[in-house]
Amino acid sequence: MTATARVKVWDIWVRLFHWALVALLGLMWWTAETGRMDLHVTLGLAMFGLLVFRIVWGIVGSGSARFSDFVRSPVAAVVYLAQAGRKQRDVEMGHNAAGGLMVLLLLLLLVIQVGTGLVADDGVFTKGPLAGFVPGWLSEEATSFHGLNFNLILGAAGLHILAVLVYLLVKRQNLIGPMITGRKTVPASIASQAPRIASFWRGAGVAVVAALAAWGLGRL
Ligand code: HEM
Repeated sequence: MTATARVKVWDIWVRLFHWALVALLGLMWWTAETGRMDLHVTLGLAMFGLLVFRIVWGIVGSGSARFSDFVRSPVAAVVYLAQAGRKQRDVEMGHNAAGGLMVLLLLLLLVIQVGTGLVADDGVFTKGPLAGFVPGWLSEEATSFHGLNFNLILGAAGLHILAVLVYLLVKRQNLIGPMITGRKTVPASIASQAPRIASFWRGAGVAVVAALAAWGLGRL
């Protein structure tokens, strides 16, 4: 038996971001499906704030939250996937090379979704807060892409959840627990490589800036 240690890999802000994102995405789908468009636009502003937070946190946040930590080359992702079937446990502290690219893709699709929503106009009841600032044709294009892009988000999120389930059921490695508690069990020999966790107050500061940006956008 190799000795193991519990180390903190995800700070509270990454975990709050992740589960708020999952809840918000579900609620936004439901409001769009049921025609609750005022609420849909309000939740869209909250999603905007969430994404602003995560992008800034990807620059100034904890080690494992930073883009510089988890965005690796597509070659590194392919190399990782080629040997992912092996029996040994992964010893990644944060995202692996393939997971990191998937995170980037998910964030990019979500930014496109919010961006197109902000300038969308269904020509009847609902206008995004920035629709009046762009030409009509752009607003029209954005509105139709908003619907198409949601399907891309569903596909990417489905793949993401499938990967997490493969880890759980095939590799017997639970990645969901750490996304709830923040802590992961790793071989004691690599415990010293645990990421640097940024202070809670730095995250709170970034959250206030992101909330103000969303509020300001809503007042336009
Ligand atoms: C209930 C379903 C879900 C579960 C169980 C789940 C689980 C996880 C886990 C375990 C990780 C960490 C992966 C790792 O260790 O590298 C993660 C990260 C992530 N997930 Fe999910 N996820 C779910 C749904 C979603 C959805 C619907 C989205 C968005 C469309 C999403 C977006 C992300 C993002 C952006 C990250 C990176 C977190 C960060 O670094 O800030 N997840 N998820």
